[in-house]
This record gives sequence, C-alpha cells and structure tokens, in this order.
Amino acid sequence: MEAIAIAHANIALIKYWGKRDEALNLPAVGSISVTLEQLFTKTKVHFSDRLQQDVFVLNGGDAGEKQRLRVSRFLDLSREIAGSSLFAEVVSDNNFPTGAGLASSASGFAALSLAVNKAMHLALSRKELTILARRGSGSAARSIYGGFVEMKTGGNKTNAASYAVQIADETFWPLKMLIAVTSDAEKKIGSTNGMNATEKTSPYYSGWLASSGKDLAEMRAAIKGKNFEKLGTLAESSCLKMHGLALSADPGLIYWNGATLNVMHAVREMRKNNIQAYFTVDAGPQVKVICEESTAVTVKSELEKVDGIKEIILTSLGPDAKIIGEEGN
Ligand code: PMV
Repeated sequence: MEAIAIAHANIALIKYWGKRDEALNLPAVGSISVTLEQLFTKTKVHFSDRLQQDVFVLNGGDAGEKQRLRVSRFLDLSREIAGSSLFAEVVSDNNFPTGAGLASSASGFAALSLAVNKAMHLALSRKELTILARRGSGSAARSIYGGFVEMKTGGNKTNAASYAVQIADETFWPLKMLIAVTSDAEKKIGSTNGMNATEKTSPYYSGWLASSGKDLAEMRAAIKGKNFEKLGTLAESSCLKMHGLALSADPGLIYWNGATLNVMHAVREMRKNNIQAYFTVDAGPQVKVICEESTAVTVKSELEKVDGIKEIILTSLGPDAKIIGEEGN
C-alpha cells in the first residue's frame, strides 16, 4: 500500500481569500490559476500496520508536530472513505522554498491526494480528487490539473459543492511566469488565519465578495480568447484587490517587503517601455510576473536589475498531477 505522486504548484490570477465554511474548507470566492512546470512536490505515502502514528518527513527532515498533525487530519479523511485505521508514512519533497508564499501547500496536498487515492484504492475521479485536495488547502484543488484551472465555490455548504475544473491545458497558450524570490523566510501569518481575521474585521469584505463573479467571468473570457493584455490587467487588479482587503483587516496584514514593491514598480515601468508583463503576489513577499513566451528573456533581464531579488525562477505552465509509482496489494 504505497504510491508516489507528483503535483505542480499553481499561482492564482484571480485570487481566493476568505472561507465560506472553515471545517469543510469551502472558499468564499472562486479563483482561477495557472499550474507551473518548474515548481513541484513529489510525495510518497506508505500505509502500514507497523506504524503507531502518522509520520511526515518534509524535504529530508522531520516536518515538526504542527505540520504532522495537519497531514494526519488530512489522512483521516481518506481513512474514513476507505474504512481503514492504518497509519501512514508520508515523505514529501519540494523543489522550491517551502512556506514563503510559493504555494507549497497547494502542490503538497494535491500530490498527497493522488498518492493516497492510489495507495488506498479509493478510486476517486479527478473531480473528487480536487474536492479531497481542497480539504488540505484551498488552492491545492487547483493543482490537480495542469494549465489554466478554475476553482468553483459552489452554492451550498456541502463537501462536494466546491471543486476545480480545467479551463484549458498547458499546451493551449504557452505563457511564462517568472518568480522573483525576495525572501526565503517562512511567512508569519498563514493564509487561514489571515482570511479569518480579514472576514471578521475588514469593512471591505462584502465588496470583495460582490465583485468576484465579474472578475472570474472576465478572466475566463481572456483565457479562451488568448487576450494577454486583458489577462494581465485582471490578474494585477485581483492581486491588488486581495492585498487591499488584507491591508484593511484590523490589524492590517502586510505580506510585502521592500523588494516586493520594487518588483511591482519595475513591472509597471516595463509596460511603459512596451514590455508586456504583469505581476501578482500571494500571501507572502514573492512576486510572480506573467508574460508571453516571446518576452520572457527580456522580462528576466529587466528583473535582474531590480534591488532585493534573491533568485528568479522562470517557468512554463505545467501539467496535471500524476502517479509516478505504486506498490502493494
Ligand atoms: O490554499 P490556501 O488556503 O493557503 O490559500 C491561498 C490563498 C492565496 O494564495 C493568497 C490566493 C490563491 O487563490 O491561491
């Protein structure tokens, strides 16, 4: 009862922020993301009657009790479906910095969902896998698919209401993303705590919910019509709207550092010089810059001039999560 899966990270172009139900982890708004080729998590899960508790090894070391419990609670969901009480050893490796706003929980829980599905013979469909992955982390549902992916909120408060669908695969439109890493420190305020604080205290929260449907519809159309200017403009505006919302919580949530702002200004300066690039930022200080294939090299050399960037990762859009190995009965 062992399986190994790979899932790629994703970055939202239309952001999700806020939960409709915390226990089921139902997002308050839909979101649209791109899955990334270069950033991935490889996860091996091994269920055994010789284990006394779940074990979680992350990037070659003990992941610590907090992360172990998060994984263990997630494994409880699949044990419930399978009617099993076996504990598991989970060994997970990210090929990128963990926990600093580079979506490691997204690729991590997507890979774990596939591996557990295979190892426990759950026979879940892709749609059901997105629902399972969502329970680990909202954005993880989107990493089940490659290319352009939409997360649906769903109307009611049931587990099956909210799932991800693929809008187009990674070959449909070969966009590039550059990730400007400005800090490799773990983020201070996790997204769940940040979302809860925002919902409770921000006077802007209702406006955020009200404008979500329009953003999603416009982004879907921009992707289908391959309208890059529209896609970029919408992505930048959704990012700034999400951060405006987070900043308006009490106390305000500031996820950026100085270099984050340097990159944002540099990207806007690029556009003044006819280099078509747009930024987006998640709940951390890294900036992701999206551009078309033909401008990627120019954008990279412009970013290299910006103060405070530690590393630049250039990536294409990536594929569906997949199983790469299995063993057992
Ligand atoms: O997947 P979570 O619950 O950690 O939330 C992710 C939130 C953002 O990355 C900021 C936005 C998004 O849609 O990915």
